[in-house]
Amino acid sequence: MYKYSDIVGKVALVTGAGSGIGKAAAIALAEQGARVAINYFRNETGAEETKRQIVAAGGHAITVRADVTKAEEVRRAASGVSAELGPIDILVNNAGSLVERLRLMDMSEARWDDVVDLNLKSAFLCVQAVAASMMQRRTGAIVNVSSIAGRNGGALGSIHYSSAKGGLITMTKGLAKELAPHGVRVNAVSPGVIDTPFHEQFSTPEAMKAHVAAIPAGRVGTPAEVASVIAFLASGASSYVVGETIEINGGMLMD
Ligand code: NAI
Repeated sequence: MYKYSDIVGKVALVTGAGSGIGKAAAIALAEQGARVAINYFRNETGAEETKRQIVAAGGHAITVRADVTKAEEVRRAASGVSAELGPIDILVNNAGSLVERLRLMDMSEARWDDVVDLNLKSAFLCVQAVAASMMQRRTGAIVNVSSIAGRNGGALGSIHYSSAKGGLITMTKGLAKELAPHGVRVNAVSPGVIDTPFHEQFSTPEAMKAHVAAIPAGRVGTPAEVASVIAFLASGASSYVVGETIEINGGMLMD
């Protein structure tokens, strides 16, 4: 593992960290020496397991419940974390989901709103909850978890999700412009096909085979391979990387 010594002692909040990429990011940041707040909404068991793994490895972690689509819950979670661990230095906006594959004519307004709220509004709310303290202290790194779908429109049945993830790439740039003068960096990662519960839920075995055939690296990615890039973006090793979205897709989509 690469060591980013400036992460030691930092406070990190990772949303949706009870499984998949969020879990791996929480573990990676804890391995780098951060004190980590593991956010979850419904998956308390997963969050407790993430915490157990971090603590077993000698790290420091707490769990914090909040639905990241609700401003009040996000604010309460952020102030709870600050009270318990200290002000938040690193925010990873990871929580997200496709929720349900739906073609255009089957998409209800309510489902559109659910998915856009979960994948886009959530990041706005979380950044708003931590940014004042970061700006005041002139320090902070925010990493948004977008998706390859945000660039290529995603597989069929994902216009709600891919539009939100595309919006997240744009929001990353806008936030970066606003916050960089205050010493706060905002960047994003854009994973391709990563082996997490996401695909167990939303991709058939045939679709996974087709995905792999289109990946020059010849395999899907692991959550840890996304987490290591998140740790890089959270660290001083990326001090001049601002408003960038890093593709992590085994070569599936380049440029
Ligand atoms: P996952 O389903 O394991 O992780 C999503 C997490 O978000 C879950 O732990 C879930 O409980 C949590 N969550 C859902 N709604 C929430 C809410 N309202 N408040 C708080 N937490 C909530 O799947 P995965 O793959 O780890 O997804 C993590 C992120 O990576 C998501 O934003 C996803 O869109 C993105 N992504 C995943 C890819 C993949 O191939 N697995 C590819 C590109 C992006």
